[in-house]
Amino acid sequence: MANYDIIGNIVVVKFKRSDSKYKKNKWARDFLREHKNVTSVLEKTERFKGRLRVQKTRFLAGANTKESLYRENGCYFRFNVDTCYFSPRLASERQDIAKKVKKGEDVLVLFGGVAPFAIVIAKNSKAAMVTSIELSKACSRYAVENVKRNKLDGKVEIVQGDVRRKLPPMKKKFDRIIMARPNLKDSFLDVTFSRIKNKGIIHYYGFCYESELENMKSMIITEAKEVKRKVKLINVKKAGDIGTRRYRYRIDILILR
Ligand SMILES: C[S@@+](CC[C@H](N)C(=O)[O-])C[C@H]1O[C@@H](n2cnc3c(N)ncnc32)[C@H](O)[C@@H]1O
Repeated sequence: MANYDIIGNIVVVKFKRSDSKYKKNKWARDFLREHKNVTSVLEKTERFKGRLRVQKTRFLAGANTKESLYRENGCYFRFNVDTCYFSPRLASERQDIAKKVKKGEDVLVLFGGVAPFAIVIAKNSKAAMVTSIELSKACSRYAVENVKRNKLDGKVEIVQGDVRRKLPPMKKKFDRIIMARPNLKDSFLDVTFSRIKNKGIIHYYGFCYESELENMKSMIITEAKEVKRKVKLINVKKAGDIGTRRYRYRIDILILR
């Protein structure tokens, strides 16, 4: 059974190594026949990797494009599935965060990609302003387009650059920071703690085995102490599988002072 994600008009499918070319082409044709909204079939040939979390796909059937138009939580997103990380599996997570945002909050999304967190929050909450920081120029161009597409000019700001360089000089502090982290070693917590208000909340996404969860929680508390912030971990949630018994965890960090 092939493993796939439908991303708007595109389906990205991962076959088994042993699957023949004939089997892949047949699967693609059958899929297009059965899913009228999907017009392109791409085969995933390389998993998300590197700092920019990009994947590689190969065209299999239908319209030969890698650009998707995808709808989620009442918002539209356009992006290239090869040059921009995007996971439709995070749709309920984005809605969950949007529901937590209170009226008038200043929200910051780190590692913002094509701005799905920022746009879903701005559209579905009464946040005062949502800022999104993303390193990739390709993703940031799509993010700016997506803000316009969803009529959120003036409510969502896109900043292109490295979180480590862009965060420290920012003048304001935020009520809520979403760390939609890539699966990389750097926690980026030191710079994030410098821009969160007292009583603010950081939603930290980290990746580990269940047996390593306590270590991740201790790491967060230690990093907070190192920059003289006092925190309380108020919620831990599994926010997706990323392998056998390996998970994406969301840890909600309340800043006490
Ligand atoms: C896991 S993706 C999350 C994307 C997006 N938040 C989403 O949910 O679709 C991580 C993103 O972080 C970006 N990134 C990696 N290192 C970064 C850095 N130092 N500063 C800013 N963005 C970075 C990558 O380009 C990638 O788009």
